[in-house]
Amino acid sequence: MKILNIVGARPNFMKVAPLMRSYPRHPHLKPVLVHTGQHYDPKMSQLFFDELGLPRPDHNLEVGSGTHADQTARIMMSFEKLCLAERPDWVVVVGDVNSTIACALVASKLGIRVAHVEAGLRSGDRSMPEEINRILTDALSDLLFVSESSGLVHLGREGVDPAKIHFVGNVMIDSLLAHRDRAEQSDVLERHGVESRRYALLTLHRPSNVDHPETLLGILEALRVVDADMPILFPAHPRTVQRLGEPRLKAAFDALRRLQTIAPLGYLEFVKATAHAAVVLTDSGGVQEETSVLRVPCLTLRENTERPVTCTMGSNRLVGIETAAIIAGYQAVRRGEVDLDRVPPLWDGRAADRVVDVLASAG
Ligand code: UD1
Ligand code: UDP
Repeated sequence: MKILNIVGARPNFMKVAPLMRSYPRHPHLKPVLVHTGQHYDPKMSQLFFDELGLPRPDHNLEVGSGTHADQTARIMMSFEKLCLAERPDWVVVVGDVNSTIACALVASKLGIRVAHVEAGLRSGDRSMPEEINRILTDALSDLLFVSESSGLVHLGREGVDPAKIHFVGNVMIDSLLAHRDRAEQSDVLERHGVESRRYALLTLHRPSNVDHPETLLGILEALRVVDADMPILFPAHPRTVQRLGEPRLKAAFDALRRLQTIAPLGYLEFVKATAHAAVVLTDSGGVQEETSVLRVPCLTLRENTERPVTCTMGSNRLVGIETAAIIAGYQAVRRGEVDLDRVPPLWDGRAADRVVDVLASAG
């Protein structure tokens, strides 16, 4: 049974790695790894193959960057040719990036069955490109693997056949738990001159935050309060780096005297930097989940989250993007007003095995 597994962007690598490790438990499964090339900088792609022990991709479509339509269409054109040549039984897609919907759409129209890992997440915000990708990918999928209970509610509401839905837990957390000890050996704190629990970690890359200078300026204003209190480590995503040249933004960044803007970190370094932070401020999807399991306070700089369980059963607080609200959230963390005791169900390091067992018996 041939299974094409799709990776394209940074958050895909840590989700597919545990699947690739799990397939050999079922000798009749023949996994094939396909990289669309959506992300291609060594620090956004190759580094993760090395650190996560991902095999070299069997195919790299090398699509690179572009507008949404351009990038999605190029992935589709290349992937259709590949599917016709490989004739897989299943295509497995993860998450919500353009590579996810592009490959799901191609497979589905060729009559190839699609499995979506991390199905059912909804932010309720259709201005977010990922929300469109999530809804459409789920609508096309033959198997839907759900990471948190909100996913079951959304898929039920959208009329998905319950027989297709499997609540398996979180494959990204499989990677986190598998690499937690190795990550601890990283010298990332020493290299950047920060001490455990005495710095804030910041990531920002959502278009709704970084593509709008007024929004980003409001966030930077709030960060002045953090900066006055502790150093901030900021591994900057390439999309964000492109925006930082704008003079008003540059001035606002320069005013944050203890903020260090650094290149994107490798996975092991990032896990260590997260695990030892006093607080994480982020607009990432995956980082909300990782902080919950690492029991580190997380302030999510967004108006909504598709991962509500990180707020109800994790360490996440959705603070929005208004300056005063971010400051209030930070002050609450400093007062110790965070619940670090609970971790969502089935985020136990065995989600990939559950996915692969279902695929193995699906025929
Ligand atoms: C993509 C995903 C987003 C995910 C993020 C994770 C979509 C619609 N968005 O956003 O859901 O949270 O990845 O990191 O799929 N660039 C480089 N080098 C690279 C990759 C990108 O310089 O290796 C630059 C390019 O100028 C590109 C821009 O970053 O135009 C944005 O890249 P793109 O993949 O389109 O979207 P992301 O913002 O990375
Ligand atoms: N990550 C990383 N280095 C960084 C920032 C993030 O390794 O400098 C990892 C992080 O641990 C998580 C994943 O990248 O596993 C999240 O990806 P990202 O924030 O790019 O995308 P999102 O989850 O928002 O789609």
